[in-house]
Amino acid sequence: MKVAVPKETKEKECRVAVTPDIVESLSKQGFECLVQKDAGLLSYFEDEKYIKAGAKIVADSKDLYSQADVILKVNAPTADEIAFMRKDAVLISFMHAGMNPELVKACANQGISAFSMDAIPRISRAQKMDVLSSQANLAGYKAVIIGAAALGKIFPMLMTAAGTIKPSKVVIMGAGVAGLQAIATAKRLGAIVEVSDIRPETKEQVESLGGRFIELKSDDSVKLEGGYVKNVSEEFLKAQQELVGKHIREADLVITTALIPGRKAPTLVTEDMVKNMRMGSVIVDMAVEQGGNCVLSENNKTVVKHGVTIIGESNLPSLLPLNASELYAKNISTFLLHLADKDGFKWEMDEEITKGSLIVHQGSILNT
Ligand code: NAI
Repeated sequence: MKVAVPKETKEKECRVAVTPDIVESLSKQGFECLVQKDAGLLSYFEDEKYIKAGAKIVADSKDLYSQADVILKVNAPTADEIAFMRKDAVLISFMHAGMNPELVKACANQGISAFSMDAIPRISRAQKMDVLSSQANLAGYKAVIIGAAALGKIFPMLMTAAGTIKPSKVVIMGAGVAGLQAIATAKRLGAIVEVSDIRPETKEQVESLGGRFIELKSDDSVKLEGGYVKNVSEEFLKAQQELVGKHIREADLVITTALIPGRKAPTLVTEDMVKNMRMGSVIVDMAVEQGGNCVLSENNKTVVKHGVTIIGESNLPSLLPLNASELYAKNISTFLLHLADKDGFKWEMDEEITKGSLIVHQGSILNT
């Protein structure tokens, strides 16, 4: 089977779907790996390394796509890229199918099959394939680092002959994958960390990392399902804003990561809350692509509002392209080996991972 690894074309994307190490391991298992020229350059994997690992470098993207049995990508392909694919080709990439009906239709019209990395069920068997977790983990780390860099002060307490510097206070909203890594990173840098989440089990996890949990009384409107928040009322969010507002007023850095899958991100930080923050403080809104947890954040922009710097970077993993590509490559190759071997795909249509992630099968739309 010919596996193709294109150079990502999305703006500001530095990751690559497959690293030289993974090319080596796929080649050993009988796959033929074709890598587009300079595909790994922005994540510091040059063509020489791919060649040494057993890949063939292909200069032209049309040529690459037209030879491929399976295409391994980070971002969903463009319409042009889809048009280059053969009818029986299989695409594996992020798709966010629910939000991209046109993309799903284009794949179906081309007659290809498409698996979406973001739709792999989050079950223990699929942990090694879980790109949402691997990328969110790195993003949580980077959110703290860019937040710290935008502050005019340091995180740890410092006692000097010229006086004592108080530690910075970091408030983290949402203690899922990204939030927990953000807590650990901010603690390691010496900040005082306070955390809000509405899933009760997160309290213990937050405290085990040295964070202080902001206790919030749950009510009937908070609906949890399979470890996720499914719904929460506006009244509940208002009560939360009031309680957390006191902590945010005192914070130097606020990192928001609250997510309700498939919905617009819940509003946690209002304009009034920003107005009440200290001049020079910073907000990193990780949920900016889902509408944002802060009403003033703007997608892929850093803005200063009421003296507060608000960072809305939607692709934090791409700012750590080396590690992000390494983990992505491990995830996607494990997924490929789950679905196929060197002779072709197994198409086990009732198997849970296949069923959850197969969006288009040979031109027919199965999932959106
Ligand atoms: P996750 O599902 O593991 O965690 C989300 C957390 O938010 C959960 O613990 C949930 O209980 C909590 N939450 C929901 N409503 C809340 C509320 N009202 N108050 C406090 N907590 C609340 O998700 P993960 O993987 O940690 O991702 C978090 C966010 O970061 C998502 O919006 C995701 O899309 C985004 N993300 C952004 C990246 C970027 O580059 N900007 C990269 C990776 C993820």
